[in-house]
Amino acid sequence: MSRHILLHSVAIDESMMNRRNTMIRNAILVFILTTLPLTLAAKGDSSAGKDKAKICEACHGADGKSVDPSYPNLAGQYESYLIKALGDYRAGRRTNPVMAGMATSLSDQDILDLAAWYSSQQGLKDLSIK
Ligand code: HEC
Repeated sequence: MSRHILLHSVAIDESMMNRRNTMIRNAILVFILTTLPLTLAAKGDSSAGKDKAKICEACHGADGKSVDPSYPNLAGQYESYLIKALGDYRAGRRTNPVMAGMATSLSDQDILDLAAWYSSQQGLKDLSIK
């Protein structure tokens, strides 16, 4: 009798563990499936960036080559640098009244697209020392 109860409780434990394992497996699957599109989307689209850069042209030039020395050139700048700079202006870590105003309305995707656009232009990046 007591042996029967013992076997029975082992069987219950196993079925609970199986259920727990299935739940964990499902949770991992859901996590992967929901984060996958985000990681795929977290890439800049340079042609979308080109459109979004229209409002930047007035100062930074049509393709990131500035119209005036008081505005930095963006053409050919490292993508990661541009993403950081725009994120910093938006967060207020880097303060400049003009760029703070420009960056507040940018979404994460806008920043990625703009960075993809400017970094793909001919310009900076020539690191040769003459
Ligand atoms: C009215 C002029 C103006 C407009 C429009 C403008 N910027 Fe700027 N931008 C500036 C100035 C001035 C600076 C330098 C600010 C500083 O010293 O931090 C700057 C700096 C930057 C920097 C940092 C460059 C570096 O070398 O560190 C980035 C990136 C940038 N702008 C991107 C943009 C983008 C993207 C847009 C459009 C959404 C834009 N800017 C629109 C004037 C402008």
